[in-house]
Amino acid sequence: MTTTLLTGIAELVTNDPSLGDGSPLGLLRDAAVIVEDGHVAWVGPAGRAPGADRRRDLGGRAVVPGFVDSHAHLVFAGDRAAEFAARMSGARYDGGGIATTVAATRASSDDELRALLGGRIAEMRAQGTTTVEVKSGYGLTVADEVRALRLAGEVTQETTYLGAHVVPAGTGRDDYLRLVTGDMLAACAPYARWIDVFCEPASPHAFDGDEARAILTAGRDAGLGLRVHGNQLSAGPGVRLAVELGAASVDHCTHLTGADVDALAGGTTVATLLPGVEFSTRSPYPDARRLIDAGVTVALATDCNPGSCYTSSMPLVMALAVREMRMTPAEALWAGTAGGAKALRRDDIGVLSPGRRANLTILDAPSHVHLAYRPGVPIARAIDGLS
Ligand code: NIG
Ligand code: FE
Repeated sequence: MTTTLLTGIAELVTNDPSLGDGSPLGLLRDAAVIVEDGHVAWVGPAGRAPGADRRRDLGGRAVVPGFVDSHAHLVFAGDRAAEFAARMSGARYDGGGIATTVAATRASSDDELRALLGGRIAEMRAQGTTTVEVKSGYGLTVADEVRALRLAGEVTQETTYLGAHVVPAGTGRDDYLRLVTGDMLAACAPYARWIDVFCEPASPHAFDGDEARAILTAGRDAGLGLRVHGNQLSAGPGVRLAVELGAASVDHCTHLTGADVDALAGGTTVATLLPGVEFSTRSPYPDARRLIDAGVTVALATDCNPGSCYTSSMPLVMALAVREMRMTPAEALWAGTAGGAKALRRDDIGVLSPGRRANLTILDAPSHVHLAYRPGVPIARAIDGLS
């Protein structure tokens, strides 16, 4: 097996406190990494690096774990630029525009959707993302949901069945609930690792707490892990339901009560914050400080989708988290790497220590702080495959 030695690393973020300066980021300066067969074989000070078959000098750049984008909706056609423009003139987001994307997606061929999905994955990779979760949810028929998950499975192992995105036009709520928890679930489960639900009593299109419980329970019985869109538009029941059912992650968390924060602090569910959504819907940002200070595990993700947030950029999300949610640059990077890995219940990614996957992101900068310090500048790029 060939070994490659990466040197010229001004700053290496390992996310393993035992390897570096003792901080959660596990920082090493003037570091080196040895990669073997797609995995990290060694990390440490450059002066103590063992020999390797090949050598690559990174010229004083920073290396960080590849970004883990644990929440994205990438299988869709069309866009909703007009809806965005209307919002910037004062219209509110309520999920009603999802129907527009469903129609455009159903009307597209497999090859068209595959090309659109591939383009979005390439965009992410060019901005430093090495792992991405991909949801269905713009098909909303058995065949269209299966198709979305089959295509998603061509680019990631983190596939999520989101038949319960909204109740599609022309279908009764009770009939659709039966389908989502019955035939559609049975057809989709072989292609999915996770099930998700848009739990939002404040939206007439989405699902209330009782409906979300029925959907998640059926998904769990079918062998799927649980994720929840919760508390995006109101302080609804999503967060507490996610914690009660042991979901891996509850995402958005924009409107939280004290009871929600207490539940998250006492449970195992990661709170995944999606500040690109607040940016793109002109909404108040989640209270990240309150969550972190309460001891909650926080992840950051893009939520890349054509309605509430059409960015594929984890660096933008981290910059927003720092500027708008008062996370430190270190907290934001941790949340976009190790936090995302925890939200996906993965221990092979998000950390650069021996034995983990060598998913590396290189920054054209000497330190991770530049991710927020240089917003909008394309300094991050992945040098490994998506997983
Ligand atoms: O996470 N809130 C539900 N789903 C997506 C938006 C989907 C859309 O508007 O197309 C979200 O924000
Ligand atoms: Fe989402």
